[in-house]
Amino acid sequence: MAERTETRVAFIGSECYPFVKTGGLGDVMYALPRALVREGQEVRVILPLYSCIPAKYKEQMVWKGSFMMDLTQDGRSFFVGVMELEKDGVVYDFIENKEFFDWGNPYTGLWEDIPKYCYFAKASLAALNFLEWTPDVVHCHDWQAALVPVYLRTRFALTPVGAARSVLTIHNLRFQGICSIEHLKYWTGLQDDLFTYDVFLVNDNEANMFKGGLAYADRVTTVSETYAQEIQTDFYGEGLNGHLWYHRAKLRGIVNGIDVEQWDPQADQLLPVSYGREEILSRKGENKRALQRRLGLQEDEGKLLLGLVSRLTDQKGLDLVDAVFEQMLDENTQIIVLGTGDPRYENAFRYFESVHKGQVSACIMYDESLSHQIYGGVDALLVPSLFEPCGLTQLIAMRYGTVPIVRETGGLKDTVEPYNEYTGEGNGFTFDRYEADLLLDAVRRAREVYFQHRDRWNAVVQRDMDKDVSWTHSARQYLELYHELKG
Ligand code: ADP
Ligand code: GLC
Repeated sequence: MAERTETRVAFIGSECYPFVKTGGLGDVMYALPRALVREGQEVRVILPLYSCIPAKYKEQMVWKGSFMMDLTQDGRSFFVGVMELEKDGVVYDFIENKEFFDWGNPYTGLWEDIPKYCYFAKASLAALNFLEWTPDVVHCHDWQAALVPVYLRTRFALTPVGAARSVLTIHNLRFQGICSIEHLKYWTGLQDDLFTYDVFLVNDNEANMFKGGLAYADRVTTVSETYAQEIQTDFYGEGLNGHLWYHRAKLRGIVNGIDVEQWDPQADQLLPVSYGREEILSRKGENKRALQRRLGLQEDEGKLLLGLVSRLTDQKGLDLVDAVFEQMLDENTQIIVLGTGDPRYENAFRYFESVHKGQVSACIMYDESLSHQIYGGVDALLVPSLFEPCGLTQLIAMRYGTVPIVRETGGLKDTVEPYNEYTGEGNGFTFDRYEADLLLDAVRRAREVYFQHRDRWNAVVQRDMDKDVSWTHSARQYLELYHELKG
């Protein structure tokens, strides 16, 4: 039999567009496997079968079978069902268990989520054995899949899947899966000798799932080079900087891309008017007016329209936005916010809308189609994050000829080249220190170029649309990493 040349990769993670998505992890779990399949690789994506997955996808799934799996310290067994669906060459295997996945959206709270993802990590590996599909690499994502590398080298070491190597990608280090040692011992059923300071332990009382996974993974990646450096420092390391520094030889940063078919202004059915590079200067105005009309803003193409599409959490720099919101507005500027999250921010934006009717729109909701219309209709997108492992909204913005205004951190720093007022070069407006006045200054610089030097603004827009934000280059970097592991 001819030797297989393609690499088999199993992606394991807690969300994946279009089935379930709360943020950029869902986008990456969708786009990267597709890019790898385009490169000729074989990819399966293992996901929980959450009840919140829309029925139209559940209807397309095929039942592959079921088995019982032991899990907990006291040897309780749990049902594992496997449902499968294929889409554009990527095979999706959904793990079914009503006890764990029948509630939540998809997350509930850490207390319930920890058992859920202990079960999911172990069931994913058991399912690969059950399906008799042995990957070369299991590529795990964030804390929810962080136990996979640990199980792989312990409970599954002598089973077929035990031959695979593991990659663990950090999308966001803020969430780690920390709980009491007893809780994790109970739900993982893992032996005491893993509960040491170099694997799971945080202190005398707590254990950390991400920490254990980082110790056991063959390679650790983050979603930008800058974030890979940042997380080895106190400020960004979320308490794991020492651990990451210790494991730095296996740590690497590979910047995210976006799926350029999913995000394509030329073919986007959700836009009132689609446009390519050549038509943007005339057509963007039409999208802008349609958006202003839809959201009850004063309809005027001449205004500078700023957008913000984000989870409303501290990570996203919203306290800076809050602090200078009134100053960012003037009679020629409008702001649209789309997001949900911390009530503190939701209420602040609702308040700004109420006192600036016609000039501010606060859309406190999660709405995929409105997000497309915002990327297509606004002139500039604000991403002033406190930390940003990669950030996808600035990439989507550039693809839609929308100029990003970002803080120079993580992936924002790696993907947005600052506008240079002397040469007119650059992709967007940036600021470095986490200070509200610097955000305001960046907005004022953008405003000046927009109103006083429109030719330069238009050149930035064109450059943004020309920028390669696809997955092609980064998917090849992952592929090199997989090859390195295969040896
Ligand atoms: P994070 O993963 O930290 O939330 P990213 O920038 O990587 O940030 O990805 C955010 C993704 O979620 C983007 O696809 C963005 O369009 C989407 N998104 C965030 N908030 C909303 C919302 N309220 N409605 C629709 N899409 C949203
Ligand atoms: C995380 C990060 C974000 C990144 C996304 C996808 O949610 O917060 O910066 O783009 O994961 O990797």
